[in-house]
Amino acid sequence: MTRTVYVNGQYLPETEATVSIFDRGFLMADGVYEVTSVLNGKLIDFGGHVARLQRSLDELEMDNPLSADEWLAVHRELVALNNVTEGMVYLQVTRGNPGDRDFAWGPGVAPTVVLFTQAKAGLADNPQAKIGLRVISIPDIRWGRRDIKTVQLLYPSMGKMMAKKAGVDDAWFTEDGHVTEGTSNNAYIVKGNKIITRPLSSDILHGITRAAVLRFAKEAQFEIEERLFTVEEAQAADEAFITSASAFVMPVVELDGASIGTGKPGKVAARMREIYLDEMNKAAV
Ligand code: PDD
Repeated sequence: MTRTVYVNGQYLPETEATVSIFDRGFLMADGVYEVTSVLNGKLIDFGGHVARLQRSLDELEMDNPLSADEWLAVHRELVALNNVTEGMVYLQVTRGNPGDRDFAWGPGVAPTVVLFTQAKAGLADNPQAKIGLRVISIPDIRWGRRDIKTVQLLYPSMGKMMAKKAGVDDAWFTEDGHVTEGTSNNAYIVKGNKIITRPLSSDILHGITRAAVLRFAKEAQFEIEERLFTVEEAQAADEAFITSASAFVMPVVELDGASIGTGKPGKVAARMREIYLDEMNKAAV
């Protein structure tokens, strides 16, 4: 199926959509992105994603090319044009095409705006949630502004490949002996009634799903501890899980070959996944 995608104000067949070879997104990874899930044809936590987009753009001194209402209209139009009932909308804004290659950037260059949909059945009813993920730990050698959602995704991609080669599902990054986050998700451990996750800083992406899950967890009377934790502590925890816009809440059952808890998905992860999907479906736009 040929998708209809959005490039700089135009809805085009994917085969006709182009971006310049001089685009700074292509040459310098000078761009930011967002991924929003679609369930039942509606956008999940859209407000959170446009707010973080604004923050990423501000941090890189880039103008936001569209208003929040315009972003919503483009997302909805693409979902409708491509008949997406379950899947994702990917959006990317780059510093555009200055007409040549140069490390420095100047004013007056229009940003490049690209959006496309990815249909994915079984996102909500994901069989992996019943099995859980097996992960390995790898050193976090990414740059120091991981709070900005840039398209600089080479090391996370390498991390996924290291996991694949090791015969597991994903990797958790570690720095100074502590877990930072997953290759494309935030990381949590559970001890009794406590949900433990790394505090927000420039060390990790400020997950939109993280914010919602922590809010719902508090409402459900879980204790939240935002602090650093080690691989060893995670291996000895009762449960572990990850969150992201596309995985929602997903249990982690093994870290570096050691089973976590019973080695099966835990109750807290299952409960938080259920609450998250329930609440977010209700609030979808
Ligand atoms: N990844 N940490 C990293 C490094 C991520 O790339 C992501 C999201 C998250 C979770 O953030 P959120 O809950 O806002 O999705 C944490 C997206 C899904 C991706 O790159 O596809």
